[in-house]
Amino acid sequence: MDAMLVTGGAGFIGSNFVRYVLNCRPDTQVVVLDALTYAGNLANLEDCGGTERLRFIHGDIRDRDTVDDAMRGVDTVVNFAAESHVDRSILDPSSFIEPNYNGVCVLLEAARRLEVQRFLQVSTDEVYGHVPAGFSVESDALAPRNPYAASKAGAELLAQSYYTTYGLPVLITRGGNTVGPYQYPEKVLPLFITNALEYKPLPVYGDGSAVRSYLYVEDHCSAIDRVLRSGEPGNAYNVGTNYEVSGRDLAGRVLETLDRPAALREFVPDRSGHDLRYALDCGRIRALGWRPALDFDTLLDRTVQWYVTHRPWWREIRNESGFRSYYRKQYDERGQS
Ligand code: DAU
Repeated sequence: MDAMLVTGGAGFIGSNFVRYVLNCRPDTQVVVLDALTYAGNLANLEDCGGTERLRFIHGDIRDRDTVDDAMRGVDTVVNFAAESHVDRSILDPSSFIEPNYNGVCVLLEAARRLEVQRFLQVSTDEVYGHVPAGFSVESDALAPRNPYAASKAGAELLAQSYYTTYGLPVLITRGGNTVGPYQYPEKVLPLFITNALEYKPLPVYGDGSAVRSYLYVEDHCSAIDRVLRSGEPGNAYNVGTNYEVSGRDLAGRVLETLDRPAALREFVPDRSGHDLRYALDCGRIRALGWRPALDFDTLLDRTVQWYVTHRPWWREIRNESGFRSYYRKQYDERGQS
């Protein structure tokens, strides 16, 4: 049996990836290490219980002893553990450097010592910075423009240095805007959906012209699996779609799908340093045989339906004091300054 350590495996993409591996790799044992910070949630793995192939460890990737314990006997490490929300990184940058950079440092050291056979660092298309035209290829310069993106770019460079210096078999994936089940409702699509379900305004930043290319989480998981199986160590792989949708249109589509009044779309002050477009050339991962299975309409419908049918999951989160105080700071107070 192979053994895989999935750090951040109780978060959004991490938990979907754990589910994917348990279903698609019957010979793989999965160890999840997760600090269960505000966006990590054991409920995200509820339906994965009852198998001896899954072991859960509650702990922080910055804690060397915990990491050693989790990584011992493991062939493959996939690191999802990170603070991931750009707006929070603007409010509090240092809380991103700690896990996103220093945490990766601890993981890489352990992986080197324990001679892990594959180390995949899950990164983001935000490392390329704002892309007004054309499509980013993996050899483009990294030019992150917000603290979150910079912390992820730093982590990539560190991981890459372990490949060059120590020969650690490092792989990097740079994912686009991922959506689907279990996404914490601070990110734009689940925020819009859950606000619409509660007849609250959908806050669109600036004039709503910034675009993102949306990718369904299961497609993101299959891409990571593909890179683990056939990627070349030392390489980065873009993972995305070309379904470019503006914030304005996304809000409109959500309201239409849920049959809510168009007047709920509300324009609010823009994000500072807002990257107005990311766009990926995915030729490299396509050459490994990967394609996204879902088109934009299907991924939107599926995501909306999931939130419609999982109200207790998101209502509990939205009622937490942490979520409410973040919401106040990000939307109510920022709007007034
Ligand atoms: O591109 C990959 C990245 O996608 C990931 O690395 C990040 O972890 C993830 O958070 C996401 O970053 P974005 O900043 O693109 O996602 P977010 O959902 O925050 O915003 C998407 C777009 O929607 C962006 O143009 C800002 C806009 N937006 C966002 C929020 C939260 C709004 O108009 N209103 C909002 O309330």
